[in-house]
Parts: sequence; structure tokens; C-alpha cells
Amino acid sequence: MNILAFESSCDETAAAVIDGGGVLRSDVVATQVDFHARFGGVVPEIASRMHVEAVDAMVDQALEQANCSIDSIDAIAVTQGPGLVGALLTGVAAAKALAMGRELPLIAVNHIEGHVSANYIASPELEPPFLCLVVSGGHTHLVVVRDYGVYELIGQTVDDAAGEAFDKAARALGLAYPGGPMIEKLAAEGNPKAYHFTRPRCENPLDFSFSGLKTALINTVHKLRQNGQDVPAADIAASFQLAVMEVIVQKAVTAALEFGRDKLALAGGVAANSLLRTMMRQECEKHGISFFRPEPVLCTDNAAMIACAA
Ligand code: KG4
Ligand code: ZN
Repeated sequence: MNILAFESSCDETAAAVIDGGGVLRSDVVATQVDFHARFGGVVPEIASRMHVEAVDAMVDQALEQANCSIDSIDAIAVTQGPGLVGALLTGVAAAKALAMGRELPLIAVNHIEGHVSANYIASPELEPPFLCLVVSGGHTHLVVVRDYGVYELIGQTVDDAAGEAFDKAARALGLAYPGGPMIEKLAAEGNPKAYHFTRPRCENPLDFSFSGLKTALINTVHKLRQNGQDVPAADIAASFQLAVMEVIVQKAVTAALEFGRDKLALAGGVAANSLLRTMMRQECEKHGISFFRPEPVLCTDNAAMIACAA
């Protein structure tokens, strides 16, 4: 069986084909980041319109790359949410039209479940139960994956998502959108010990809070500017990145130990960050936890993960 999947929840128009054995046959993405960069974030109306323009070409490319025709597709899958409503609507409309026209079943997929499922593509040996940390632009979730499709949320952000904090911090430093990769790049030239940003605490120790860290960074930048001093952006980026990742890694590993899980998986756009991947691998090794993560292209939004979940 072959499944053709659509993803259009934010600013990537993506399509992919996967076979019944979970082997990815194609995975194509048209990104809109350059169009949103000038506004410092995703403009929902522009995103919706660009999805409409790109979606047919993505389907054609996904079929071509998979070396198959629409006749060999047995089911259609699509991200149903969460995401930008107008953006989701375009993918859902395209998927519905194709499913109806070809008389194929339509499978609605939760975007976060898609991110978790990217791990099954990268590590076919991974099976539930395991703990998954989802860190994206919209979500920061600690999830116990009890079985396929059976999830228990044990921790989440009480304010900003991890990726959102990176995007806002980047904007304060005058960097382009999306902020995560920009901060990672700049941080490579900075000293992570130059500034100390106080690590936040939450009532539920497995919950996250990033808005205080973001505000601390913004205040640091403003103070330097007010005093007419240079802003050492690389040092600030490196110190901020370390603070965020330390919090994330500590909570994820604590949760894995507390819930008796010896398998920990990463998911979502922020999981593409190499400092996070390295720190998590080291901490997991120290505590005898097996560590799983998709390759960076499968961490950020894509349709392969949606096809896999379907
Ligand atoms: O999962 P994703 O592609 O979209 C959502 O579902 O939100 O995540 C996008 C987020 C953005 O906030 C972006 O800044 C962040 O992931 N991100 C990163 C990196 N690459 C993407 N954050 C830190 N380091 C990265 N290398
Ligand atoms: Zn996402």
C-alpha cells in the first residue's frame, strides 16, 4: 500500500509518499521562509495563499520522486491541526479533493503526532513505550508514548514554546526569521558563559517556561543599547541557547527516569539544533537511556512524518 500525505500547517507546503512497510518513497517541501522573513514571522494570510500556489506542484513532485503515478496511491493523509487555520484549510481542501476524485480513504493526522512519528522513519527499530520531547515553534510537550496512537502528556510550556522563544530572542538581536537556526549559527562564535540567564522554575517540575528567559535577553540587549554599548550578539545568543537547552535536557531526562522510560526521542523543529542533540545524547548515555532523534530535515515541518503517522 502507498500513502500520499500533505502538510500545510504553517509555512512549508509539503508532500510525501510512504509505503506500507514504512519506507519513505519521496519527501518534498516548498518553504516560504524567504517571504515571511521580511515581516519577522509568519503572516497567516500570505502563508495560505502560497500554499494554494504550491500544493499541486508538490503533489506532482512527490509522485515523480516516488516513481509512481496517482493510480498506485491507496490512501491520502493530511495534517488536520494544530496550526494556522487558513494554512491548514488549503492542505485539507487539496487532500479532500484528491481523495474524493480518486475514491480513496482520507486519513486526518495530528501535526504533533506527526512530529513524534518522524522517529519511526529515522529509527525503524524504535517501538513504544518511550518518552518523546516535542520542541517546535508552537509546542513544547513531554509525552509518554504508551503505544502507537496512545499518548500521555506529562509536561508542557506554561507560556512560550521553545521555538517561539528562539524566534523572539532572534528578533531582539536583529536576526532574521526563523530565529532558531540563526541563533544556533551566531552562537557558534560566542561564549555561552558570558551571560547568565536565570533558569526558570515551574510549579510542575516537568512543565516549561521560556518567557522569562526571553525577557531577560531582551532586557540585556536594551540595557546595553541604552548605555551606548556594543551588543555582543554572539555571546548573548550562545548564553541564551545554553540556558534553554539546559532546561530542556534536564526536564526530559528527569521525566525519563521518573516515568521509568529507558528510551527518549526528540521531535519538532528545535530538535534540529546540534547543541540540543549533543547535550541530550551525553545525558542519556550517562543515565543508560537509549536516545533517538530524526535527522534535522525530519525535525522541521515535512509531510514524511504525516505519512508515517497515517
Ligand atoms: O516543527 P517546526 O518546523 O514548526 C512547528 O510545528 O512549529 O518548528 C519550527 C521552529 C521555529 O521556531 C524555529 O526557529 C525552530 O523550530 N528551529 C530551531 C532550529 N531549527 C528550527 N530552533 C533551534 N535551533 C535550530 N537549529
Ligand atoms: Zn511542526
